[in-house]
Amino acid sequence: AGHIAGNRSKLKFDGIKAVPNNVDDVVVPKGYNWDPVIRWGDPLFHDTPEFDPENQTKESQSGQFGYNNDYLDIIEIPGSKGKRAVLFANHEYTNEGIMFPPDMPVERQREVAMAAHGLSVVELERKGKGQPWRYVRGAQLNRRFLMHTEYELTGPAAGSDLLKTQADPTGRIVLGTLNNCAGGTTPWGTVLSGEENFNQYFKVAAPTAEQRRYGLTSANPSRGWHIPEPRFDTDRPEGKNEDNRFGWIVEVDPFDPTSTPRKHTALGRFKHEGANVTIAASGHVVSYSGDDERFDYLYKFVSKGKYREGDKKHNMTLLAEGDLFVASFKGNSPQNQIDGSGVLPTDGAFDGTGHWIQLTRDGESLVPGMGIDQVLVYTRLAADAMGATKMDRPEDVEINPATGKIYMACTNNTSRTRTQVDEPNPRANNRHGHIVEMTETGEQTSTEFTWSVILVAGDPAVDESVYFSGYPAEQVQPISCPDNLAFDSAGNLWVSTDGQPGTIQRNDALFRVTLEGKERGKVEQFMAVPIDAETCGPLIHDDDGLVFVAVQHPGEDGSWGAQRSLFPDYVQEGRRAKRGDAALPRPAVIQMFKGMNGHVKR
Ligand code: FEO
Ligand code: CA
Ligand code: CA
Ligand code: CA
Repeated sequence: AGHIAGNRSKLKFDGIKAVPNNVDDVVVPKGYNWDPVIRWGDPLFHDTPEFDPENQTKESQSGQFGYNNDYLDIIEIPGSKGKRAVLFANHEYTNEGIMFPPDMPVERQREVAMAAHGLSVVELERKGKGQPWRYVRGAQLNRRFLMHTEYELTGPAAGSDLLKTQADPTGRIVLGTLNNCAGGTTPWGTVLSGEENFNQYFKVAAPTAEQRRYGLTSANPSRGWHIPEPRFDTDRPEGKNEDNRFGWIVEVDPFDPTSTPRKHTALGRFKHEGANVTIAASGHVVSYSGDDERFDYLYKFVSKGKYREGDKKHNMTLLAEGDLFVASFKGNSPQNQIDGSGVLPTDGAFDGTGHWIQLTRDGESLVPGMGIDQVLVYTRLAADAMGATKMDRPEDVEINPATGKIYMACTNNTSRTRTQVDEPNPRANNRHGHIVEMTETGEQTSTEFTWSVILVAGDPAVDESVYFSGYPAEQVQPISCPDNLAFDSAGNLWVSTDGQPGTIQRNDALFRVTLEGKERGKVEQFMAVPIDAETCGPLIHDDDGLVFVAVQHPGEDGSWGAQRSLFPDYVQEGRRAKRGDAALPRPAVIQMFKGMNGHVKR
């Protein structure tokens, strides 16, 4: 952990102005270009058909880049001199209404949509350092993870009765991963991916208390996967316990295309936004993970084993065994000084101390009345019983590599009432969200920490509860609904948003936030995504002069025949489309770099 003096970012840019929410374009700073790296439908293998939106099939989509890319990482391949990399992306969900012509039979739409979920690994190449990337069709590491890919359950709940199904009486092998949102890359080169809103895929006539706590309802799932695949119908023998097999952290080795991905039960089951790992001074591995639901919790996992530099095989066992904790926050301002509308803290900060409540130890439950498999499969109920602090939808939780401090994006919570306001969630009807900074007391494995709300988001021009660590609010950009977090090499925080079109009538965007020095709290907007889109998976390769985002659900509120976005191909009448281009919105990974202003010619 080192000290950073001010904003020493290697990326020089003049912040862009907020972009109105009807603009169908990517907006980048003056002097920057943008270009897609890979788009929904781009073929990954030599024998995969070209993208043909009118005629997609299960087979074509199974070999193409999936829909709604969310988590993103680009990892250089060792020994390639910066000329080759592997790209990893989550495909969180599908938007059938804009993906498929309405006359495509619903059975076929279902098959294609199912194949558009999952994960992708794709090799990239380029001429050298500082150059933009392009993806390599047919490369050795390219891989799609589909709904029939086998995942191995690890940890204390693997093999539990709660995880056994008719098709898998061992309770150890799951087919597929669902609704993968954010993630993190481990120090040993694997990728963690969070299964988030898995509940929406399951049919259940009369949900149990546990199922209700996980958001399963008696409403029929809109995608109707339970019709072709009875395992998604929990009322049928094939579907019993199948829902318990989703909601985990998945670990994938992108460098081994034959490896079996895993779901780690020791990290608990909830609506994982993602997970991020750091190595404590003692060598234990510590993972942080938010449960993205209103009034849900922040979790931490500490491995039993220790990290061994260069021993990937060993390090890949670390998340299978260890202890799970959930966060309790305590404010230090007198309660009567915190106004429910979120006025500035009277003692100078929304801050205080925190405690990690231990839920499991050495594979045993510490929760009265619950066994270890119940604590891990029904983690939300365990945390409820132990009195964890209810947060405003914890999304990404990231560790600043420059300082070891932890940052949590609480994206919003419009259900929080004035009487439910507390210092870590200081605003009632929290439409815009906030960001919490945490410092572990001593070692990263500590059970105690201190914390401070560094940013209460919103538009300072119209909202007096907005707070930017004391930085003059009139000098920063409006920001709302922080979701994903990232850091540049100088330790500045980068924040991407999900929800600005509805809350501040601006397109979602990517911001840089200065954390240290006199400019702490300064917010500058780097880019904005097109209409209806969410800014996902930000990746700041400032050493390389490159910034990446995964543009998710562009034109989401349109429909086939009435599309609201043509991102990223912008195929329009009177313009000639290139091979592989299409006249509909396509979620895509884009890269931004210095060059001629505007969209680069491909
Ligand atoms: Fe998929 Fe929590 O955002
Ligand atoms: Ca305080
Ligand atoms: Ca998210
Ligand atoms: Ca979100």
